[in-house]
Amino acid sequence: MPVRRPTCYSSTMAVPQTVMVQPAPRIRGDVRPPGDKAISHRYAMLAAIADGVSEIRGFSTGADCNSTLGCLRGLGVDVTDVGRDATGRHLRIDGRGLAGLLPPTAVLDAGNSGSTMRMLAGLLAAHPFSTTMTGDESLQRRPMRRIIVPLEQMGARIDSNDGRPPLTIHGQDTLRAIDFRPDVPSAQVKTAVIFAGLYASGISWVTETLATRDHTERALAAFGVSVLRDGARVGVAGGQRLKAVELEVPGDISSAAFWMAAAAALPDSEVVIRGVGLNPTRAGIIGVLRRMGASIDVDGGDAPGEPMGTITVRHAGHQTTHIAPEEVPGVIDELPVLAALATHGGELSVSGAQELRVKESDRISALAEGFRRMGADIDEAPDGFHVRGSHRLRGGEVDARNDHRLAMAFAVAALGASGPTTIHDAGAAAVSYPEFFSVLESLRA
Ligand code: S3P
Repeated sequence: MPVRRPTCYSSTMAVPQTVMVQPAPRIRGDVRPPGDKAISHRYAMLAAIADGVSEIRGFSTGADCNSTLGCLRGLGVDVTDVGRDATGRHLRIDGRGLAGLLPPTAVLDAGNSGSTMRMLAGLLAAHPFSTTMTGDESLQRRPMRRIIVPLEQMGARIDSNDGRPPLTIHGQDTLRAIDFRPDVPSAQVKTAVIFAGLYASGISWVTETLATRDHTERALAAFGVSVLRDGARVGVAGGQRLKAVELEVPGDISSAAFWMAAAAALPDSEVVIRGVGLNPTRAGIIGVLRRMGASIDVDGGDAPGEPMGTITVRHAGHQTTHIAPEEVPGVIDELPVLAALATHGGELSVSGAQELRVKESDRISALAEGFRRMGADIDEAPDGFHVRGSHRLRGGEVDARNDHRLAMAFAVAALGASGPTTIHDAGAAAVSYPEFFSVLESLRA
């Protein structure tokens, strides 16, 4: 069968606000997804407080990571966009040293990015000046108490709008080490505490009830920081300096997930995804897709740093599965597209995913509303949903509620419908995957 050449980035073309997606009998081709968003944020923030100049290749092309770069520039960090190649953006970041961020002269804008606000707050808690960070309407609705509580325990003071942005972080020279047990499993909360722990006297610990992605631990090790792990606890001793490094960000498995699900959904489909991150704390989707019936080959895998490799996904029928609460952190960002896959056949139920209600939108209600408008059989629960792919969708008109992952999940569901689907707010896809809709067209076969 003919295999297409990898789709490369040519630009970060704006995605139109409304997109019409036509059904597709199958998809086939090769894709290199954009640089991982979660890893890009971390590498940029750590490069900003390292000693020396870091080179980062494969940096995310999404708007969220641009928000992080904008905030870092506002804190006096020199970030140079060197150019683009097949792996994405190449950045040069001139580190200001551990406590070297400068007081901003204006409010920092985190845009749509919860990661930017929550993780950067950890660094700002340890800089002795006040910083106000805000964001778009969606970010202003998101809960921040989860980072305010531990960072205040460490000695910072944070003003908020009743636990929501804008945040004004009044940082301190030195912080107290804490042993923190977050109420919600969240890698962003873990990261905020561990970042602040770099400046604390003593060892700061985070104990997780459910393990979350370990990008922060791996990134710190890459910058020369010794990270302590003790079962479900992660710790860092304050005062360690970071050394500038050259790093490549792997492709984002959460962006690849749309093509993986689309190939699993449509008969006679095959997609090869190259240069994609295979960190086991992020790759839960591979196991879930197999349970939903897909045939998947993985080439590459465990390696120091962030492992990457190639994933090949082929349609092989539809099965029914359940995602249990303990699995949720490993697939949290992929749940919308897994729901989209279940509209094509089989069934998917999810429980213990109440966090979906406080993402960029209330993803449970938005998914249920959108899929129902397309003709799907979906039940909503406070902590999850149940989708039955018992009949073909008809298509229709849906609202992505300015949520990037919903815009793309609706597009994957739309491929199996009998008629076209109009997606409003589809431009949100640019938050993590500006190339999404053009890659989709290139994969039609
Ligand atoms: C992220 C962690 C997850 C995820 C988000 C990115 C990260 O959020 O949903 O897209 O990079 O650490 P939570 O930490 O709030 O679960």
